[in-house]
Amino acid sequence: MTMHESFALGVFLSVEGLDGSGKTTILPHVRRWIEERGHSVRLIREPGGTKLGERIRELLLDPGLAPMDPWAEVCLYVASQAQQVRDIIVPCLEQGIWVLADRFRDATVAYQGWGRELGADRVKDLQDLVLGPLFPHLTVLLDCDVAVAWHRVAKRATSRDRLEQEARPFMEKVRQGYLDLARQYPQRFVVIDATQPLAKVFQDVTAVLEATWTSGLSGGRGGM
Ligand SMILES: Nc1ncnc2c1ncn2[C@@H]1O[C@H](COP(=O)(O)OP(=O)(O)OP(=O)(O)O)[C@@H](O)[C@H]1O
Ligand SMILES: [Mg+2]
Repeated sequence: MTMHESFALGVFLSVEGLDGSGKTTILPHVRRWIEERGHSVRLIREPGGTKLGERIRELLLDPGLAPMDPWAEVCLYVASQAQQVRDIIVPCLEQGIWVLADRFRDATVAYQGWGRELGADRVKDLQDLVLGPLFPHLTVLLDCDVAVAWHRVAKRATSRDRLEQEARPFMEKVRQGYLDLARQYPQRFVVIDATQPLAKVFQDVTAVLEATWTSGLSGGRGGM
């Protein structure tokens, strides 16, 4: 049985991209699009969502615990994902509730596998072991030039101290990691140019949702 057959009622969508690419900005738009079609939506964020996930989020953001061993960091992210799968994603999909994720497992491959150079395949192997074949049916990648994303985050931040210039080569690797995933899983990923004006990004995302909706999500999405 494929994942789609086992969760025939609910659909799992994720939005991925660099910090500042616009994920949180477009989520309400996607949510509205789903609700207009009569479905309930559950929003999740990574890491977090569950009681354990929120505690893990605190650990990951606690500067008192730095520097964290990079594999310890991966394990914390994947632990949060495992709890989300069990407590939220599977139960929602089984009840026909759509799940909309502000990042999910692909982010760990891009940020830790590529950004921290732990190796995409090693991170994926760990996720396969822990999470099994549970993937979003559709992943929207908001692809964004690092300098543009950086500029947006700088404008949004309350303190510029948080923004260290060394992070730019890191973000470049993360972007390449995301694009590599999109090339590897073309049936699941859709890449959108997130440097366009917001109205055009919305329009492109809507077009993807409409096209996917019309063609049916059972056409090979998921399990990749
Ligand atoms: N296409 C766009 N054009 C101009 N500004 C944008 C665009 N998309 C997002 N922004 C702005 O960029 C900032 C960052 O967007 P947002 O918070 O949605 O990014 P994010 O992907 O959720 O980042 P993070 O991963 O850090 O949470 C916001 O101030 C948002 O208004
Ligand atoms: Mg965000």
